[in-house]
Amino acid sequence: MKKVALITGGTRGIGKQIALTLAENGYDIAINYRKENEEVNNTRKEIEEKNAKCFLVQGDVSKFEDCERFIKEIIAEYGRIDVLVNNAGITRDMLLMRMKKEDFEDVINVNLVGTFNVTKNVIPYMMKAREGRIINIASVVGISGNAGQTNYSASKAGIIGFTKSLAKEVASRNILVNAVAPGFIETSMTDILKDEIKEEIAKMIPLKRMGKTQDVANVVKFLSSEDSSYITGQVINIDGGMLM
Ligand SMILES: NC(=O)c1ccc[n+]([C@@H]2O[C@H](COP(=O)([O-])OP(=O)(O)OC[C@H]3O[C@@H](n4cnc5c(N)ncnc54)[C@H](O)[C@@H]3O)[C@@H](O)[C@H]2O)c1
Repeated sequence: MKKVALITGGTRGIGKQIALTLAENGYDIAINYRKENEEVNNTRKEIEEKNAKCFLVQGDVSKFEDCERFIKEIIAEYGRIDVLVNNAGITRDMLLMRMKKEDFEDVINVNLVGTFNVTKNVIPYMMKAREGRIINIASVVGISGNAGQTNYSASKAGIIGFTKSLAKEVASRNILVNAVAPGFIETSMTDILKDEIKEEIAKMIPLKRMGKTQDVANVVKFLSSEDSSYITGQVINIDGGMLM
């Protein structure tokens, strides 16, 4: 029986690339999405072309009841979840002086509370199986901070603390919990930046380029595999050397 990987917010960007890469590497895939749109069915087709199953579940990760329901749907379909990738995330960038309370709360609720909501509902199945991998998508700004991102940086720093604490709680059950901290990766999240800003960013990066979604997916593949069976509670930066 194939192992099953769940990727939240996995119909585009980094999450989609992770789903495709794990599908290529022998996993069946479950993808959570928030809203029905063309991306959802296109992603399913692309995954099925890799000879993997793709089960799609709708739900807003910031809502605990949604997560409770869609995890049960995945278990009813596949009977297991071996790898959880907490990828769903949003930004609402603004200097603190002008940031609305809702912009702070929304980002914390999706990125950090969402990671709790999904993990809390998946972990009993991993405990029972006495194995599992959880990979949380943090960000370098959760380590370095970034002007205009107090909400986002706080959510990602929170994810790092969550990762390390949970790693300690569940290590005895052979459940490994790690985070990756991408730098600037080319996706719709960074497409909103003007070209001049992207060029300035590339100049600051030792490897002199923005990252690709595949750069992140490769590390997630490693953290899902037997090759990383002695690694837990770590944060791996994927940022071309930007933060050292
Ligand atoms: N792109 C970057 O440079 C970069 C850098 C560091 C970290 N990240 C992180 O990587 C992850 C993926 O980002 P991306 O760049 O692919 O962005 P993206 O906007 O393309 O993808 C985010 C996905 O999350 C989903 N999502 C948002 N809110 C959700 C909710 N409430 N419930 C369920 N799904 C929801 C979106 O629908 C989308 O599919 C995020 O956690 C992001 O913070 C991205």
